[in-house]
Amino acid sequence: MTNIVDILIEEVDKGLKYSTQNYQLNKRDYPGKGLEDSDLTELEKHHSAGLMRVNHSGEVCAQALYRGQALTAELNDVKEKMNEAASEELDHLAWCNKRLEELNQRPSILNPLWYGMSFTLGAVAGLAGDKWSLGFVEETEEQVVKHLDGHMKKVSSKDNKTKAIMKQMREDEEAHGLAAQKAGAAELPEEVKEIMSAVAKVMTTTSYQI
Ligand SMILES: [Fe+2]
Ligand SMILES: [Fe+2]
Repeated sequence: MTNIVDILIEEVDKGLKYSTQNYQLNKRDYPGKGLEDSDLTELEKHHSAGLMRVNHSGEVCAQALYRGQALTAELNDVKEKMNEAASEELDHLAWCNKRLEELNQRPSILNPLWYGMSFTLGAVAGLAGDKWSLGFVEETEEQVVKHLDGHMKKVSSKDNKTKAIMKQMREDEEAHGLAAQKAGAAELPEEVKEIMSAVAKVMTTTSYQI
């Protein structure tokens, strides 16, 4: 049996890597590949970067949530699914990092905090049992999809690269939510959904700025 200390060291190492480094190792092509970087004004660039910083923080949270859940999941196939999803979310993290770099902006300085909080939340959800953990994934992804829809409306219509990234992420998040539903997700109580969206609001408001 793998030693718990080894597992914790690995998790802390991954947490620091994903929340503080410009992680850009993606399996799938960058959705902005081959697209012209349109002639955005400084204000439009700033806005795109703010939105992308929020998405990036969301992806940092996704890594943490999935890894936390995988750690405490009961069934091995649920564990595997969580780890698979985390690896798909790594593409998103890489794309957001790349776009931020193209816009000459940095990710949120609060990312290590979001990572730690989300990892804990994920581990607690995992302890509650697989059906709740999957329900948590389904609800999270649903909220992310709504959120991305909002961003697609807010971003400059000229910013084709940012739009292409958001569009692909939206498609993937929707698929993640459906996969969780099919795997046996339980519907979360309304109160929990409200708390989740309130926490997300704090994250999105602050990450847009810093
Ligand atoms: Fe994602
Ligand atoms: Fe997702």
